[in-house]
Amino acid sequence: MARDNLQGPLSGKRIVFAFGGGIAAYKACHALRLFVHEGAEVRAAMTAAATRFVTPLTVQALSGGPVLTEVLEPSQEAQYGHLDLVRGADLVVIAPATANLIGAVRAGLGGDAVTTTLLAARCPVLLAPAMNVAMWANEIVQQNVEALRAIGRYHFVGPASGLLADGDVGAGRLAEPEEILEAARSLLAPRDLAGRRLVITAGPTREHLDPVRFLSNPSTGRMGYAVAVAARERGARVTLVTGPVELPAPSGVEVVRVVSAAEMLEATLRVVEGADAFIASAAVADQRPVVRAAQKVKKQPGTEDLLLERTPDILATVSARYSSRQERPVLVGFAAETERVEAHAREKLERKGLDLVVANDVSAPGSGFGTDTNQVLLVAAGGTDRLPLQSKRAVAGAVLDRVVALLGS
Ligand code: C5P
Repeated sequence: MARDNLQGPLSGKRIVFAFGGGIAAYKACHALRLFVHEGAEVRAAMTAAATRFVTPLTVQALSGGPVLTEVLEPSQEAQYGHLDLVRGADLVVIAPATANLIGAVRAGLGGDAVTTTLLAARCPVLLAPAMNVAMWANEIVQQNVEALRAIGRYHFVGPASGLLADGDVGAGRLAEPEEILEAARSLLAPRDLAGRRLVITAGPTREHLDPVRFLSNPSTGRMGYAVAVAARERGARVTLVTGPVELPAPSGVEVVRVVSAAEMLEATLRVVEGADAFIASAAVADQRPVVRAAQKVKKQPGTEDLLLERTPDILATVSARYSSRQERPVLVGFAAETERVEAHAREKLERKGLDLVVANDVSAPGSGFGTDTNQVLLVAAGGTDRLPLQSKRAVAGAVLDRVVALLGS
C-alpha cells in the first residue's frame, strides 16, 4: 500500500502490533501510527477483548493491512494466518498488555489471535502493560513479569504512574506512545557502537551582554539530541554537552549543561580525552560582547555601539589538539548554510581538519532550525552523499553509520 510517511529510522523493519483488551487500546492506536510514520511495516493482531475497545476497521486503517482477530477462522487464516503474521518479524509489540494477556504469554497459552501469534514468534517481544493499580501490584502479575523478563527475549516498557481511567492513581497507565516507540527503536538498533564513547555538542550558546540580555540563535538542539539518543541505543557511552534548550535530558546519556561558547569549550575539553568520536552539532554563537556588564545595563536614548569579539571555535580547538597525535577521535562537524552548501561544507572539512561534515541548507523547506526533519549532505574526503528529506532521527542514524565506518577504517 502506498504510504506518505517519511523514510524513517524503522524503514524495512517488520513489526507485529498486538492489541490486548483494555481501555488503553485507544492510546495504543496512536503508538501504532507512530511506527507506521517511522517507516515500519506494521501488521496487527487483536484479542477478542481488544476488538470491544477499538474496532478492527480502525486498526486496519491505521496499519494499512488486514488485522488478525481470529484463529481457526478459515477466511482469515487463508489470507493472513497467525504463522504468516510473525514470519520474518523483527519485533512484536503488545499494547496494552493486560494482566490476563501477560499471564497467558507467561503460561505459553494460545487460543486467540495474539497469544497464538506470539507462540510462533522468535523475535524480541515488547510488552506495554496497562491495568488497574491493584492488578499491576498483584504478586502473580509481578511474578509473571519477572519470569518473562528472565527469558531475555521479552521486554517491558511502563507502566507509567498517574491517574488511571478507572479513577485510581498509581502505576498502571500505558506508557506514552512515544516511549513505546523509543523502547522499540532501542531493541531494534544495531549494537555497533558498543564499547565506544562519543562526545556530542548540541543546542545554541548564549553570549550575555549583561545578566538579562544575550546574543544567541534559534537552535533547538533537536539534531544533537537525536544523535545522542541514537548513539546510546547503538551501545555507545554518550556525553552530551548542551547549551540551553527545552528538551528533556535523554535517559542513559551523561548531560553537561553550559550556557556560553567559552563554557562549552571548557566542558568539551574536560570530557573529550579518550573519546572515539566528537560530533559538534551545537550552533555556537560566533561572536560575544567584549564586555559583560555585572548589572543590567540601563537603556539610553539614541543609538549605541556594541563591541563584539569572536568566540572560541570548539571543533577547531579539539581538532588542533589532536593534529600531531596518532590516536584521535573521529571528528564530525555540522554546517548550516543558505547557499553553495557543498562548497562551504568542503571548505569547513578541510579548514577544521574533519572526517565528515553534515551540511544542510537551512533556508530549504523542512530543513534546519526548529523542524523535525532535515535534508543533509554528508561531505567527506571521499565524496558527497545527498540524503533524502527525513526525520532528524533518521539523519542521526545515517551520521552514526558513517561514524561506525570511520571508526572501523
Ligand atoms: O564555522 P562554522 O560555525 O560554520 O562551523 C560549524 C561547525 O563548527 C559546527 O559543527 C559547530 O558545532 C562547530 N563550531 C564550534 N565552535 C564554534 C563555531 C562552530 O564547535 N565557535
